[in-house]
Amino acid sequence: MSSGLDGVVAAETVLSDVDGEAGRLIVRGHNLEDLAGRMPFEDAVAVLWRDIVPVAGDLGRRIGEGRALAFDRFAPLVGAVTGLTPVERMRWLIAAIGDDAPGADPARLVGATAVAAAIGIRSARGEPLVAPDPAAGHAADLLRMIRGSAADAAEARALDTYLVTILDHGLNASTFAARVVGSTGAGLVSAVIAGLSALKGPLHGGAPGPVLDMLDAIGTADNAETWLRAALDRGERLMGFGHRIYRVRDPRADVLKAALGPLGGRDNRIPLAEAVERAGLALLAERKAGRRLDINVEFFTALLLEALAIPRDGFTPVFAAGRIAGWTAHVCEQTAAGRIIRPRSRYVGERPMAAA
Ligand code: ACO
Repeated sequence: MSSGLDGVVAAETVLSDVDGEAGRLIVRGHNLEDLAGRMPFEDAVAVLWRDIVPVAGDLGRRIGEGRALAFDRFAPLVGAVTGLTPVERMRWLIAAIGDDAPGADPARLVGATAVAAAIGIRSARGEPLVAPDPAAGHAADLLRMIRGSAADAAEARALDTYLVTILDHGLNASTFAARVVGSTGAGLVSAVIAGLSALKGPLHGGAPGPVLDMLDAIGTADNAETWLRAALDRGERLMGFGHRIYRVRDPRADVLKAALGPLGGRDNRIPLAEAVERAGLALLAERKAGRRLDINVEFFTALLLEALAIPRDGFTPVFAAGRIAGWTAHVCEQTAAGRIIRPRSRYVGERPMAAA
């Protein structure tokens, strides 16, 4: 029995490889650093999907069509939702697409996921919805739909870098969840809903909002060590630190830190974050000696998405708008493998009494 399936290999994939010892991420044969910041999201999706995910026609055009189609489908539904967070609204909207509907085509689903993210974020604030521009670049259009104002070139480039950085990442919890559902033949939308539900948790894609809450609570660099020590004393986990696979720094963190540079960010945010990073690493090395905990992708995700003026409860929806590419590809790969995922559990409960 492996608690948390630690070390278990449950799929073969050609999509991505996470080397936790070297701190290296390979996506379809390319180092992450050769994709992120070098091409728009749509082109990176084409790299990831090559010969795995069927696309009818031009991918960028198809994703744009997906945004337009989804907006028409989702906008009339929004009034019926109350009391849900942006990511819960997003999940509810995507669930309204039938598994066999025209919008369930993989490329269109990428478009629909961005629209659901933007509508989830804006509707939770009672803000008027912003319709997509199917001819625009995906990242620029996503940012405009979220904020209601056009993205400049540097902002669109930064969001493209982010979306490519988080495109795919081995058999993480949400991708595994999507593959399990995909393996039953339930359909792509059902599998995506499973992935999104797993991503939502604070131990996975729900971490970047709490990273900013932590930075706000710490306030100043000279308070970092005291605050973090007290948090660990209370038995809390430091958000944005630690990873199941990486034993060194998550390579995605530096890609995002570099993308953050041209945006500037909030006053003193980066020096504060660097002080928190230093203090957190020192304390985790002291408390979890031998475990080799470092920062993960969520640490600089938080700073980058904040610099793009995306509200913190919108971070997980935006994460999903990028990771949808990976979920979709993994579901297609799993479906082609044609075998249901069905592990076993070991029964440790009581057994019936033997007959006297
Ligand atoms: N803060 C404090 N302690 C930690 C942290 C942390 N961030 N991460 C791990 N530890 C501790 C664990 O409590 C565990 O201690 P124990 O052995 O005394 O119980 C020990 O380090 C080893 O933990 P791991 O086995 O490495 O952790 P696991 O693989 O179970 O969890 C996880 C990985 C969930 C990412 C964890 O590091 C964590 O909770 N981090 C904070 C949340 C976070 O940043 N999540 C985003 C991850 S990136 C992503 O999913 C996109």
